Amino acid sequence: MSVLITGIGELTTNTDETGDALVVDGDRIAWVGPAAQAPAADERVDVEGRAVLPGWVDSHTHLVFAGDRTAEFGARMAGEPYTAGGIAVTVGATRGASDEQLSEVVRKHVAEALRQGTTSLETKTGYGLNVRDEVRSARIAGEHVEEVTFLGAHLVPPGEDADTYVDLVRGEMLDAVAPLVRWADVFCEKGAFDYDQSKAVLTAAAQKGLGLRVHGNQLGEGPGVRLAVELGAASVDHCTYLSSADVDALASSDTVATLLPACDLSTRQSLPPARALLDAGATVALASNCNPGSSYTSSMAFCVTTAVLQMFMSVEEAVRAATLGGARALRRDDIGVIRVGARADLHVLDAPSITHLAYRPGVPLTHGVWKSGDRVI
Ligand code: NIG
Repeated sequence: MSVLITGIGELTTNTDETGDALVVDGDRIAWVGPAAQAPAADERVDVEGRAVLPGWVDSHTHLVFAGDRTAEFGARMAGEPYTAGGIAVTVGATRGASDEQLSEVVRKHVAEALRQGTTSLETKTGYGLNVRDEVRSARIAGEHVEEVTFLGAHLVPPGEDADTYVDLVRGEMLDAVAPLVRWADVFCEKGAFDYDQSKAVLTAAAQKGLGLRVHGNQLGEGPGVRLAVELGAASVDHCTYLSSADVDALASSDTVATLLPACDLSTRQSLPPARALLDAGATVALASNCNPGSSYTSSMAFCVTTAVLQMFMSVEEAVRAATLGGARALRRDDIGVIRVGARADLHVLDAPSITHLAYRPGVPLTHGVWKSGDRVI
């Protein structure tokens, strides 16, 4: 079954391919170009001058959770600082939830994201923090999203010894979770895991064949970026507080700097130095960091808007970071682009150009979504 989409007002492909029409065949893009040269297709859809771009690739979320942290958010808005300690509240609620309850939370947020144009999602474990609950978090995540990350090293569970817990994470817990995930991550930050502990977990994960990611430099400068680059991690996420050495290290590496502006706003941190990273030549991704503690939004459009209005990224840079940047952070070349052979994940805006994402902040602009060739919105 093929569909010819015509009447595209502005086409963002993230490649050299251009045009005002494209053909979807099965789950793939089959053709891109000027409508006058379009091949025949089974169906035709006219998007009447609207902008078309790749579906958002949200490369950083924490969707396997239970409970709510509204009170913590309220306290923060009244002046309390964000600390990693709040994670323990969600761990308690998650351990107490049934598989069905957790599955429903993930399903609901994946559907919410899809309605806003997110066609690829990564999500993490990290609210289980024991073997049983990390395994079931990974299993449930894998039932709903295509990229799953093991984050047993999210926090040392209250009352447990840090080194004993690190040994558990890199030993029995990793053995049990590794078959269910593609990635391993650590929260390398004061109050969570230090450089040596983080490196021990990531090294063990790499030996199991997992790709690496790091949460780093979220609440202050620290060793997260250095560690990520040293180990060849696919991404280091947050990057809110970077030294010039961190920026240079990222610029001369394949490690993607994944920026999470909704989190920085919700935790009242500075916004990350996107301009310095881009000007130095680093690859930048934007992601939602959807989680109940530090960033309870699934809106990639909000991240793009913030990146443009407050982080001095151009609209083109921000959209690219939220699509192709996310794909690079996940080391995927089949998503985040519109080119022949890529997965047919398309986002049609109810606007003539992507500029409207920043020009009309807060306005829901998703008009249509195709995921793997199926029109889902
Ligand atoms: O990416 N920084 C660590 N982990 C999450 C927050 C988790 C939470 O507060 O529940 C993050 O922001």
